[in-house]
Amino acid sequence: MHTSFLTLAIAAGAALVQADASSYNQNAGCNKDQLLRWFNSNTGLFYDNNNNPYWWQGGNMLTTLALFGKLDSGVASQITPVINQIYTNAPANKPFAKAKESSGVTSYEKVYIPRNKLAGRSPILSRQSDVGFENSFYDDEAWWALGFIASWELTGQIKYLNEAIYIWDDMTAAVGTTPCGGIWWDKAHTYVNAIANELYLHLSAAIANNVGSDVKQKYVDAAKNQWNWFKGTGMINSQNLINDGLDSNCQNNGHPTYTYNQGVILSGLAKLYKATGDSSYLDQAALIANAAISHLVDSNGILVDDCDKNKNCSGDGEQFKGVFTRGLRDLYAQRPTDSWKTFINRNAQSIWNNDLAIQNGGCFNGAYWGGPYATADASTQSCALDTIVAALAIN
Ligand SMILES: *[C@@H]1O[C@H](CO)[C@@H](O)[C@H](O)[C@H]1NC(C)=O
Repeated sequence: MHTSFLTLAIAAGAALVQADASSYNQNAGCNKDQLLRWFNSNTGLFYDNNNNPYWWQGGNMLTTLALFGKLDSGVASQITPVINQIYTNAPANKPFAKAKESSGVTSYEKVYIPRNKLAGRSPILSRQSDVGFENSFYDDEAWWALGFIASWELTGQIKYLNEAIYIWDDMTAAVGTTPCGGIWWDKAHTYVNAIANELYLHLSAAIANNVGSDVKQKYVDAAKNQWNWFKGTGMINSQNLINDGLDSNCQNNGHPTYTYNQGVILSGLAKLYKATGDSSYLDQAALIANAAISHLVDSNGILVDDCDKNKNCSGDGEQFKGVFTRGLRDLYAQRPTDSWKTFINRNAQSIWNNDLAIQNGGCFNGAYWGGPYATADASTQSCALDTIVAALAIN
Protein backbone atom coordinates (compact mmCIF):
# COMPACT_ATOMS: atom_id res chain seq x y z
CA MET A 1 0.00 0.00 0.00
CA HIS A 2 1.30 3.42 -0.92
CA THR A 3 0.28 5.88 1.77
CA SER A 4 1.60 9.34 1.16
CA PHE A 5 1.54 12.22 3.60
CA LEU A 6 -1.15 13.74 1.41
CA THR A 7 -3.30 10.63 1.65
CA LEU A 8 -3.07 10.71 5.44
CA ALA A 9 -4.00 14.38 5.50
CA ILE A 10 -7.03 13.73 3.32
CA ALA A 11 -8.06 10.73 5.40
CA ALA A 12 -7.88 12.80 8.57
CA GLY A 13 -10.32 15.26 7.04
CA ALA A 14 -12.61 12.55 5.78
CA ALA A 15 -15.18 13.17 8.49
CA LEU A 16 -15.80 16.58 6.96
CA VAL A 17 -16.66 15.41 3.46
CA GLN A 18 -20.27 14.83 2.50
CA ALA A 19 -19.73 12.53 -0.47
CA ASP A 20 -18.42 9.07 0.18
CA ALA A 21 -18.27 5.77 -1.61
CA SER A 22 -21.90 5.00 -0.77
CA SER A 23 -23.20 8.02 -2.70
CA TYR A 24 -21.40 7.60 -6.04
CA ASN A 25 -24.32 5.84 -7.73
CA GLN A 26 -26.79 8.52 -6.65
CA ASN A 27 -24.37 11.34 -7.56
CA ALA A 28 -23.65 9.85 -10.96
CA GLY A 29 -27.37 9.46 -11.57
CA CYS A 30 -28.16 13.08 -10.75
CA ASN A 31 -25.24 14.27 -12.91
CA LYS A 32 -26.40 12.03 -15.78
CA ASP A 33 -29.98 13.30 -15.63
CA GLN A 34 -28.71 16.85 -16.10
CA LEU A 35 -26.26 15.81 -18.84
CA LEU A 36 -29.17 14.34 -20.79
CA ARG A 37 -31.00 17.68 -20.59
CA TRP A 38 -28.29 19.03 -22.89
CA PHE A 39 -28.97 16.22 -25.41
CA ASN A 40 -31.26 16.57 -28.43
CA SER A 41 -32.56 13.20 -29.56
CA ASN A 42 -33.51 14.57 -33.01
CA THR A 43 -29.96 15.63 -33.85
CA GLY A 44 -28.12 13.05 -31.75
CA LEU A 45 -25.91 15.84 -30.38
CA PHE A 46 -25.19 17.46 -27.01
CA TYR A 47 -25.32 21.27 -26.81
CA ASP A 48 -23.47 23.93 -24.86
CA ASN A 49 -25.17 26.81 -23.04
CA ASN A 50 -25.18 28.90 -26.25
CA ASN A 51 -26.97 26.06 -28.02
CA ASN A 52 -23.93 25.20 -30.13
CA PRO A 53 -23.42 21.47 -30.65
CA TYR A 54 -20.38 19.64 -29.37
CA TRP A 55 -18.68 17.25 -31.76
CA TRP A 56 -15.67 15.31 -30.42
CA GLN A 57 -16.82 15.86 -26.85
CA GLY A 58 -19.99 14.01 -27.82
CA GLY A 59 -17.88 10.90 -28.34
CA ASN A 60 -16.67 11.20 -24.76
CA MET A 61 -20.18 11.84 -23.46
CA LEU A 62 -21.28 8.68 -25.25
CA THR A 63 -18.40 6.74 -23.67
CA THR A 64 -19.15 8.00 -20.18
CA LEU A 65 -22.85 7.24 -20.38
CA ALA A 66 -22.24 3.77 -21.80
CA LEU A 67 -19.68 3.00 -19.09
CA PHE A 68 -22.20 4.10 -16.45
CA GLY A 69 -24.79 1.87 -18.09
CA LYS A 70 -22.45 -1.10 -17.76
CA LEU A 71 -22.55 -0.63 -13.97
CA ASP A 72 -26.30 -0.10 -13.54
CA SER A 73 -29.06 -1.91 -15.39
CA GLY A 74 -31.57 0.92 -14.90
CA VAL A 75 -29.13 3.35 -16.47
CA ALA A 76 -28.48 0.83 -19.25
CA SER A 77 -32.18 0.80 -20.21
CA GLN A 78 -32.25 4.57 -20.23
CA ILE A 79 -29.01 5.00 -22.20
CA THR A 80 -29.53 2.32 -24.86
CA PRO A 81 -32.05 4.39 -26.88
CA VAL A 82 -29.86 7.48 -26.47
CA ILE A 83 -26.94 5.60 -28.01
CA ASN A 84 -29.12 4.64 -30.96
CA GLN A 85 -30.24 8.25 -31.43
CA ILE A 86 -26.60 9.36 -31.46
CA TYR A 87 -25.60 6.64 -33.91
CA THR A 88 -28.53 7.31 -36.24
CA ASN A 89 -28.81 11.09 -36.15
CA ALA A 90 -25.46 12.66 -35.28
CA PRO A 91 -23.68 12.18 -38.65
CA ALA A 92 -26.34 14.14 -40.52
CA ASN A 93 -26.08 16.98 -38.01
CA LYS A 94 -22.30 17.09 -37.73
CA PRO A 95 -21.36 20.73 -37.10
CA PHE A 96 -18.68 20.78 -39.82
CA ALA A 97 -21.07 19.37 -42.39
CA LYS A 98 -23.60 22.07 -41.59
CA ALA A 99 -20.94 24.72 -42.06
CA LYS A 100 -20.12 23.39 -45.51
CA GLU A 101 -23.78 23.28 -46.41
CA SER A 102 -24.40 26.88 -45.42
CA SER A 103 -21.27 28.09 -47.19
CA GLY A 104 -22.75 26.82 -50.44
CA VAL A 105 -20.59 23.77 -51.03
CA THR A 106 -22.83 21.67 -53.22
CA SER A 107 -21.14 18.36 -52.52
CA TYR A 108 -22.01 18.49 -48.82
CA GLU A 109 -24.00 15.31 -49.12
CA LYS A 110 -20.70 13.46 -49.31
CA VAL A 111 -19.80 14.94 -45.98
CA TYR A 112 -22.66 13.86 -43.83
CA ILE A 113 -24.02 10.78 -45.43
CA PRO A 114 -24.78 8.48 -42.51
CA ARG A 115 -22.96 5.17 -42.46
CA ASN A 116 -26.18 3.19 -42.54
CA LYS A 117 -27.21 4.87 -45.80
CA LEU A 118 -24.02 3.89 -47.61
CA ALA A 119 -25.35 0.77 -49.30
CA GLY A 120 -25.36 1.20 -53.07
CA ARG A 121 -23.19 4.32 -53.03
CA SER A 122 -20.19 4.45 -55.30
CA PRO A 123 -16.89 3.42 -53.72
CA ILE A 124 -15.58 6.93 -54.20
CA LEU A 125 -18.40 8.41 -52.15
CA SER A 126 -18.06 5.78 -49.48
CA ARG A 127 -14.36 6.58 -49.12
CA GLN A 128 -15.02 10.24 -48.41
CA SER A 129 -13.16 11.08 -45.27
CA ASP A 130 -16.16 12.68 -43.63
CA VAL A 131 -18.54 9.76 -43.90
CA GLY A 132 -20.38 8.80 -40.75
CA PHE A 133 -18.44 9.78 -37.66
CA GLU A 134 -15.23 10.39 -39.58
CA ASN A 135 -14.07 13.95 -40.08
CA SER A 136 -10.97 16.03 -40.68
CA PHE A 137 -9.33 15.19 -37.36
CA TYR A 138 -8.14 11.72 -36.46
CA ASP A 139 -8.54 12.39 -32.75
CA ASP A 140 -12.17 13.49 -33.16
CA GLU A 141 -13.16 10.32 -34.94
CA ALA A 142 -11.22 8.14 -32.49
CA TRP A 143 -13.19 9.56 -29.54
CA TRP A 144 -16.35 8.47 -31.34
CA ALA A 145 -14.88 5.05 -32.07
CA LEU A 146 -14.16 4.53 -28.38
CA GLY A 147 -17.70 5.64 -27.57
CA PHE A 148 -19.00 2.98 -29.92
CA ILE A 149 -16.74 0.32 -28.39
CA ALA A 150 -18.33 1.12 -25.02
CA SER A 151 -21.75 1.11 -26.73
CA TRP A 152 -21.05 -2.33 -28.19
CA GLU A 153 -19.92 -3.60 -24.81
CA LEU A 154 -23.12 -2.27 -23.23
CA THR A 155 -25.66 -3.36 -25.84
CA GLY A 156 -24.08 -6.19 -27.80
CA GLN A 157 -25.25 -4.51 -31.02
CA ILE A 158 -22.67 -5.28 -33.68
CA LYS A 159 -23.27 -2.08 -35.65
CA TYR A 160 -21.48 -0.15 -32.92
CA LEU A 161 -18.40 -2.35 -33.05
CA ASN A 162 -18.44 -2.06 -36.83
CA GLU A 163 -18.54 1.74 -36.60
CA ALA A 164 -15.44 1.64 -34.41
CA ILE A 165 -13.70 -0.64 -36.91
CA TYR A 166 -14.61 1.64 -39.85
CA ILE A 167 -12.95 4.48 -37.99
CA TRP A 168 -9.95 2.30 -37.13
CA ASP A 169 -9.59 1.50 -40.86
CA ASP A 170 -9.57 5.21 -41.68
CA MET A 171 -6.86 5.87 -39.09
CA THR A 172 -4.84 2.82 -40.08
CA ALA A 173 -4.60 4.10 -43.65
CA ALA A 174 -2.71 7.08 -42.19
CA VAL A 175 -0.14 5.13 -40.14
CA GLY A 176 3.43 5.92 -41.13
CA THR A 177 2.48 8.77 -43.48
CA THR A 178 4.11 11.56 -41.44
CA PRO A 179 7.82 12.43 -41.59
CA CYS A 180 8.03 11.42 -37.91
CA GLY A 181 6.10 8.14 -38.22
CA GLY A 182 2.77 7.57 -36.51
CA ILE A 183 -0.35 9.32 -37.74
CA TRP A 184 -1.20 12.93 -38.28
CA TRP A 185 -3.49 14.85 -35.97
CA ASP A 186 -5.48 16.01 -38.99
CA LYS A 187 -6.19 15.21 -42.60
CA ALA A 188 -4.70 18.56 -43.62
CA HIS A 189 -1.37 17.20 -42.26
CA THR A 190 -0.47 20.18 -40.08
CA TYR A 191 0.70 18.48 -36.86
CA VAL A 192 1.89 15.18 -35.39
CA ASN A 193 0.62 15.13 -31.83
CA ALA A 194 0.26 12.85 -28.87
CA ILE A 195 -3.50 12.62 -28.62
CA ALA A 196 -4.29 11.22 -32.07
CA ASN A 197 -1.47 8.70 -31.74
CA GLU A 198 -2.44 7.63 -28.22
CA LEU A 199 -6.02 7.22 -29.33
CA TYR A 200 -4.92 4.97 -32.17
CA LEU A 201 -3.07 2.80 -29.65
CA HIS A 202 -6.10 2.73 -27.35
CA LEU A 203 -8.56 1.97 -30.15
CA SER A 204 -6.39 -0.81 -31.59
CA ALA A 205 -6.09 -2.49 -28.18
CA ALA A 206 -9.78 -2.00 -27.43
CA ILE A 207 -10.79 -3.63 -30.71
CA ALA A 208 -8.34 -6.48 -30.09
CA ASN A 209 -10.22 -7.25 -26.86
CA ASN A 210 -13.58 -7.22 -28.60
CA VAL A 211 -13.11 -9.31 -31.74
CA GLY A 212 -12.73 -13.03 -32.37
CA SER A 213 -9.37 -14.77 -32.07
CA ASP A 214 -9.25 -15.16 -35.87
CA VAL A 215 -8.74 -11.43 -36.40
CA LYS A 216 -7.45 -10.29 -33.00
CA GLN A 217 -3.75 -10.41 -33.89
CA LYS A 218 -4.04 -7.67 -36.50
CA TYR A 219 -5.21 -5.21 -33.85
CA VAL A 220 -2.71 -6.42 -31.27
CA ASP A 221 0.10 -5.89 -33.78
CA ALA A 222 -1.17 -2.41 -34.63
CA ALA A 223 -1.27 -1.49 -30.93
CA LYS A 224 2.19 -2.91 -30.23
CA ASN A 225 3.74 -1.19 -33.23
CA GLN A 226 2.08 2.07 -32.27
CA TRP A 227 3.39 1.90 -28.69
CA ASN A 228 6.90 0.95 -29.81
CA TRP A 229 6.91 3.96 -32.11
CA PHE A 230 5.31 6.30 -29.58
CA LYS A 231 7.76 5.66 -26.76
CA GLY A 232 10.64 6.34 -29.14
CA THR A 233 9.35 9.74 -30.29
CA GLY A 234 10.46 11.70 -27.23
CA MET A 235 6.92 12.88 -26.49
CA ILE A 236 7.28 11.26 -23.04
CA ASN A 237 9.51 13.71 -21.18
CA SER A 238 12.03 13.16 -18.37
CA GLN A 239 9.24 13.53 -15.77
CA ASN A 240 7.32 10.69 -17.43
CA LEU A 241 4.67 13.14 -18.58
CA ILE A 242 3.54 13.36 -22.19
CA ASN A 243 3.80 16.72 -23.91
CA ASP A 244 1.34 17.76 -26.58
CA GLY A 245 3.26 16.81 -29.72
CA LEU A 246 6.23 17.01 -32.05
CA ASP A 247 7.78 19.99 -33.81
CA SER A 248 8.72 20.13 -37.47
CA ASN A 249 11.99 18.34 -36.65
CA CYS A 250 10.07 15.50 -35.02
CA GLN A 251 11.27 16.56 -31.54
CA ASN A 252 9.13 16.99 -28.42
CA ASN A 253 7.69 20.49 -28.83
CA GLY A 254 7.50 21.17 -25.08
CA HIS A 255 3.83 22.11 -25.28
CA PRO A 256 1.66 21.49 -22.20
CA THR A 257 1.28 18.11 -20.53
CA TYR A 258 -2.50 18.09 -20.69
CA THR A 259 -4.21 15.63 -18.38
CA TYR A 260 -5.98 13.83 -21.22
CA ASN A 261 -2.65 12.96 -22.78
CA GLN A 262 -1.70 11.17 -19.55
CA GLY A 263 -5.07 9.39 -19.52
CA VAL A 264 -5.54 7.89 -22.98
CA ILE A 265 -2.14 6.19 -22.78
CA LEU A 266 -3.18 4.46 -19.53
CA SER A 267 -6.27 3.02 -21.20
CA GLY A 268 -4.24 1.96 -24.23
CA LEU A 269 -1.51 0.22 -22.25
CA ALA A 270 -3.98 -1.39 -19.82
CA LYS A 271 -5.94 -2.81 -22.73
CA LEU A 272 -2.78 -3.91 -24.54
CA TYR A 273 -1.82 -5.78 -21.36
CA LYS A 274 -5.25 -7.39 -21.33
CA ALA A 275 -4.79 -8.45 -24.96
CA THR A 276 -1.26 -9.82 -24.54
CA GLY A 277 -0.65 -10.64 -20.87
CA ASP A 278 2.63 -8.69 -21.08
CA SER A 279 2.88 -6.86 -17.76
CA SER A 280 5.65 -4.55 -18.96
CA TYR A 281 2.86 -2.43 -20.47
CA LEU A 282 1.44 -1.92 -16.98
CA ASP A 283 4.88 -1.01 -15.61
CA GLN A 284 5.22 1.70 -18.26
CA ALA A 285 1.68 2.95 -17.65
CA ALA A 286 2.33 3.11 -13.89
CA LEU A 287 5.23 5.52 -14.43
CA ILE A 288 2.96 7.90 -16.34
CA ALA A 289 0.05 7.53 -13.92
CA ASN A 290 2.25 8.26 -10.90
CA ALA A 291 3.87 11.23 -12.64
CA ALA A 292 0.48 12.75 -13.41
CA ILE A 293 -0.77 12.19 -9.85
CA SER A 294 2.36 13.90 -8.52
CA HIS A 295 2.64 16.81 -10.92
CA LEU A 296 -0.78 17.61 -12.39
CA VAL A 297 -2.54 18.32 -9.11
CA ASP A 298 -3.28 21.24 -6.81
CA SER A 299 -2.13 21.40 -3.19
CA ASN A 300 -5.04 19.14 -2.15
CA GLY A 301 -4.24 16.43 -4.65
CA ILE A 302 -7.03 17.41 -7.05
CA LEU A 303 -6.34 16.99 -10.76
CA VAL A 304 -5.63 20.21 -12.68
CA ASP A 305 -4.74 21.38 -16.14
CA ASP A 306 -3.16 24.81 -16.62
CA CYS A 307 -6.63 26.23 -17.30
CA ASP A 308 -7.76 25.10 -13.84
CA LYS A 309 -4.87 26.96 -12.24
CA ASN A 310 -5.85 30.09 -14.19
CA LYS A 311 -9.58 29.45 -13.68
CA ASN A 312 -10.19 29.94 -17.38
CA CYS A 313 -11.13 26.49 -18.66
CA SER A 314 -13.35 26.63 -21.73
CA GLY A 315 -13.80 24.81 -25.01
CA ASP A 316 -11.66 21.70 -25.44
CA GLY A 317 -9.85 22.13 -22.13
CA GLU A 318 -13.00 21.49 -20.10
CA GLN A 319 -13.05 17.94 -21.36
CA PHE A 320 -9.54 16.77 -20.47
CA LYS A 321 -9.49 15.73 -16.83
CA GLY A 322 -12.22 13.10 -17.05
CA VAL A 323 -10.22 11.32 -19.71
CA PHE A 324 -7.44 10.94 -17.16
CA THR A 325 -9.58 9.45 -14.40
CA ARG A 326 -11.17 7.09 -16.93
CA GLY A 327 -7.70 5.97 -18.02
CA LEU A 328 -6.59 5.52 -14.42
CA ARG A 329 -9.67 3.41 -13.81
CA ASP A 330 -8.72 1.21 -16.79
CA LEU A 331 -5.21 0.81 -15.38
CA TYR A 332 -6.55 0.11 -11.88
CA ALA A 333 -8.76 -2.64 -13.33
CA GLN A 334 -5.65 -4.49 -14.50
CA ARG A 335 -3.38 -3.62 -11.54
CA PRO A 336 -5.33 -2.58 -8.44
CA THR A 337 -3.13 -0.08 -6.59
CA ASP A 338 -4.27 1.73 -3.44
CA SER A 339 -2.81 5.11 -4.35
CA TRP A 340 -4.77 5.15 -7.63
CA LYS A 341 -8.00 4.23 -5.89
CA THR A 342 -7.38 6.94 -3.31
CA PHE A 343 -6.79 9.46 -6.08
CA ILE A 344 -10.01 8.63 -7.92
CA ASN A 345 -12.03 8.68 -4.69
CA ARG A 346 -10.53 11.97 -3.59
CA ASN A 347 -11.35 13.62 -6.91
CA ALA A 348 -14.87 12.16 -7.12
CA GLN A 349 -15.62 13.39 -3.60
CA SER A 350 -14.14 16.82 -4.22
CA ILE A 351 -16.31 17.21 -7.31
CA TRP A 352 -19.39 16.62 -5.21
CA ASN A 353 -18.31 18.59 -2.16
CA ASN A 354 -16.67 21.58 -3.86
CA ASP A 355 -17.84 21.79 -7.46
CA LEU A 356 -21.60 21.18 -7.34
CA ALA A 357 -24.62 23.43 -7.75
CA ILE A 358 -28.18 22.23 -7.30
CA GLN A 359 -30.28 24.38 -9.60
CA ASN A 360 -33.79 23.79 -10.95
CA GLY A 361 -33.71 20.37 -9.36
CA GLY A 362 -30.62 19.37 -11.34
CA CYS A 363 -27.09 18.56 -10.21
CA PHE A 364 -24.54 20.73 -12.06
CA ASN A 365 -20.80 19.97 -11.92
CA GLY A 366 -18.39 22.65 -13.13
CA ALA A 367 -14.84 22.63 -14.43
CA TYR A 368 -12.91 23.19 -11.19
CA TRP A 369 -13.00 20.01 -9.16
CA GLY A 370 -11.34 21.66 -6.18
CA GLY A 371 -13.93 24.45 -6.28
CA PRO A 372 -15.33 26.92 -6.07
CA TYR A 373 -18.13 26.05 -8.45
CA ALA A 374 -18.24 28.54 -11.32
CA THR A 375 -20.50 27.32 -14.09
CA ALA A 376 -21.37 24.04 -15.78
CA ASP A 377 -22.03 22.91 -19.31
CA ALA A 378 -22.37 19.47 -20.88
CA SER A 379 -18.60 19.21 -21.19
CA THR A 380 -17.75 19.94 -17.55
CA GLN A 381 -20.70 17.76 -16.56
CA SER A 382 -19.58 14.69 -18.49
CA CYS A 383 -16.00 15.17 -17.36
CA ALA A 384 -17.11 15.08 -13.73
CA LEU A 385 -19.30 12.07 -14.53
CA ASP A 386 -16.23 10.24 -15.85
CA THR A 387 -14.65 10.54 -12.44
CA ILE A 388 -17.73 9.65 -10.43
CA VAL A 389 -18.34 6.61 -12.64
CA ALA A 390 -14.69 5.60 -12.26
CA ALA A 391 -15.09 5.84 -8.48
CA LEU A 392 -18.32 3.85 -8.62
CA ALA A 393 -16.60 1.15 -10.66
CA ILE A 394 -13.62 0.63 -8.37
CA ASN A 395 -15.36 0.77 -4.98
C1 LIG B 1 -5.75 31.58 -19.26
O1 LIG B 1 -4.96 32.35 -18.41
C2 LIG B 1 -3.56 32.24 -18.67
C3 LIG B 1 -2.81 33.01 -17.58
O2 LIG B 1 -3.36 34.29 -17.41
C4 LIG B 1 -3.24 32.77 -20.07
O3 LIG B 1 -1.86 32.62 -20.35
C5 LIG B 1 -4.06 31.95 -21.07
O4 LIG B 1 -3.88 32.46 -22.36
C6 LIG B 1 -5.54 32.00 -20.71
N1 LIG B 1 -6.25 31.11 -21.60
C7 LIG B 1 -7.43 31.42 -22.12
C8 LIG B 1 -8.04 30.35 -22.97
O5 LIG B 1 -7.98 32.48 -21.93
